[in-house]
Amino acid sequence: MDIISSKNVVNIIRKTLNLIDDRLIHHGERVCYILHKMLSCENGYTNDQILSYTFTALLHDIGAYKNEELDKMIQFETINVWGHSIYGYLFLKYLSPLDDLAEIVLYHHLDYYKLNKLNSPFGKIAGYLNLADRIDVCLMNSDNPDIEKLVKDYSGVKFSQEAVAAFKRADEVFHIIKHIKNGSYLEELNRILEKVNFSQSEIEMYLKMLIYSIDFRSEYTVMHTITTVSVADEIGKRMNLTEYERSILHYGALLHDIGKISTPISILEAPRKLTDEEMNIMKNHVLMSEHILKDYIQPDILEIAVRHHEKLDGSGYYRGLKNEQLTLPQKILAVADIISALCGKRSYKEPFNKETILNIITKDSANGKICPKTVGCVTCYYDEIMDNVNKNTNKQLHIYADIKLKYGNLYKKLVSLDLSGKVINYNV
Ligand SMILES: [Fe+2]
Ligand SMILES: [Fe+2]
Ligand SMILES: [Fe+2]
Repeated sequence: MDIISSKNVVNIIRKTLNLIDDRLIHHGERVCYILHKMLSCENGYTNDQILSYTFTALLHDIGAYKNEELDKMIQFETINVWGHSIYGYLFLKYLSPLDDLAEIVLYHHLDYYKLNKLNSPFGKIAGYLNLADRIDVCLMNSDNPDIEKLVKDYSGVKFSQEAVAAFKRADEVFHIIKHIKNGSYLEELNRILEKVNFSQSEIEMYLKMLIYSIDFRSEYTVMHTITTVSVADEIGKRMNLTEYERSILHYGALLHDIGKISTPISILEAPRKLTDEEMNIMKNHVLMSEHILKDYIQPDILEIAVRHHEKLDGSGYYRGLKNEQLTLPQKILAVADIISALCGKRSYKEPFNKETILNIITKDSANGKICPKTVGCVTCYYDEIMDNVNKNTNKQLHIYADIKLKYGNLYKKLVSLDLSGKVINYNV
């Protein structure tokens, strides 16, 4: 049996996306529901294609973690909302199995008369997504939105006539607006998304994409997660864990800071020691991780993820658990988390060297805070572990650096397109 099922991944993604911003709760879900219904009324698409487009639409605002465009996005007139469209595109293209469909997200706010000039193979779907998105924004902004007027006023300019016709037809057949207004669309969407079926490697990719997309808000956090997973994997290999234990340790490490989605960037990146109040907010990330994961992931993985700040003497958080209440994989992640923090650069410190790191963890172990067996293993194999960690993480860090670079290039090109309306080459 798969350790994490496709259904669980879809639910974790849905729950996490709903935490981006209160104003965007269920937005991605409603938009993908509308698109699904529009496509279901058309000939020429297989069920698998419709499902892939629907799932892509669910993720359309995944880039919104990074920037401050949310205010603009929920107003009708979208002036410059390229930032989140580009990040969403890059996440899908370089971190997900949906690389082929990433352009749909890139162009989801582009007006039809501009989109038309790009000759993108996904121009039509991006245009449908744009209309679905704007209809939902209308529904969010008013109890009684004039959807008729919206589609009529902008048909052929902002939205293609084809998209407008597809929406009208689908609304007549499926009563989209009614189901959204009374909330019954969610149950139907659950049934639609239940058909999604990922391989184990796709599951790993989606979870990584989700974590990295959250971590992109803070460079230090993204490095931290990548490094923690690798350190935990390397220690696990050397401590005679079973294959199952290594696997749950890996996923627990990958998901351990997912709750940081709710931590303000000013705290994640504070170039100084946190105040007591800020520290309490920071500590909340553990509870938020629990909130996101608890219904969708097996207890073994959940407990590894949410216990990484517990200490053997009961002085850790959030539950103040003690040595005998913690399992070996949980103790290993706690040590891996500390090593990753010590060997990484932070806004308030440079990376520590081997000697300092070993001194700190040896002292923590002697003081009864962290697992002596794990610390013994790290001390014994430190160079070997860190050599492998560097090799494993380098590839991921390159992808991260590359995404940042591509973002800058693509932004320049697309913003100039917005002004001039000329056809450009979007492949950078
Ligand atoms: Fe958007
Ligand atoms: Fe949106
Ligand atoms: Fe943490």
